[in-house]
Amino acid sequence: MNQTQSKGLALVTGGSRGIGRACCEILSKEGYAVVVHFNSRESEAHAVAERLTGACVVQANLSTVEGVEQLAAFVKERGMPVEVLVNNAGVALDNPLFSASVEEFETTMALNMRATWLLTKRIARMMMRQKRGRIINVSSVIGHMGNVGQTVYAMSKAAIDGFTKSAALELAPHGILVNSVAPGFVETDMTAALSAEHRAAIQQRIPLGRTASTAEIAEAVLFFATKASYCTGTVLHVNGGLYAA
Ligand SMILES: NC(=O)c1ccc[n+]([C@@H]2O[C@H](COP(=O)([O-])OP(=O)(O)OC[C@H]3O[C@@H](n4cnc5c(N)ncnc54)[C@H](OP(=O)(O)O)[C@@H]3O)[C@@H](O)[C@H]2O)c1
Repeated sequence: MNQTQSKGLALVTGGSRGIGRACCEILSKEGYAVVVHFNSRESEAHAVAERLTGACVVQANLSTVEGVEQLAAFVKERGMPVEVLVNNAGVALDNPLFSASVEEFETTMALNMRATWLLTKRIARMMMRQKRGRIINVSSVIGHMGNVGQTVYAMSKAAIDGFTKSAALELAPHGILVNSVAPGFVETDMTAALSAEHRAAIQQRIPLGRTASTAEIAEAVLFFATKASYCTGTVLHVNGGLYAA
């Protein structure tokens, strides 16, 4: 299948690893030509795309406004309908309230919040011409339940869900659906840094007794991308019962 035979483009930010990679895989299987975005892990991103039919790779540092604009321009140049945007790229710089720096705050907000907002603006404009599109924002259970050492991260992720609801209202008349997937604890590089004790403590608090696989989060993303035709402004919690919102 080449790009012209696909269901259209699906752009996944942070597609080089973790949850983003699983989203690339599941959306490709569904027939989308996936744009695998990365920032620093070029070889990982190429390894993902090589296994997918009709996928391409693009680098952009989404912490900068220029990086977001470059990514949007790249997508526009493809000249294909953009059917799906997954705002997945994110960063968690954990630090207690009194230790977290302004620099950490700004780095987190630039990627988790501003890039989600600005890229949505750019891609939704393309989707409006098609009168359809699906936007899925990856937030977090932490934005709802909070966590020690994650004041900044929690703030950025709570903001994403507020953004989802507001953007859903504005874009509904244009046939564009906007939803969030709020994962619980998922095994990725982001959580790999935790100590064995911390990991065991978290696991104990999860009613299903285990952490999520990246594929289990991608399944929720796929639901919003391909089904869920009457859902917009929704936050789907995928957390093994850790937090009932
Ligand atoms: N893991 C969890 O337990 C969990 C739970 C709830 C929510 N989430 C959310 O799920 C999303 C994915 O998390 P993950 O665990 O899969 O993370 P991860 O394994 O750390 O991957 C992060 C991804 O974001 C990209 N990225 C990092 N900085 C970037 C920048 N400045 N510009 C553009 N892209 C950048 C990375 O690209 P490179 O590979 O090129 O560096 C990578 O693809 C995040 O938004 C995270 O907050 C994760």
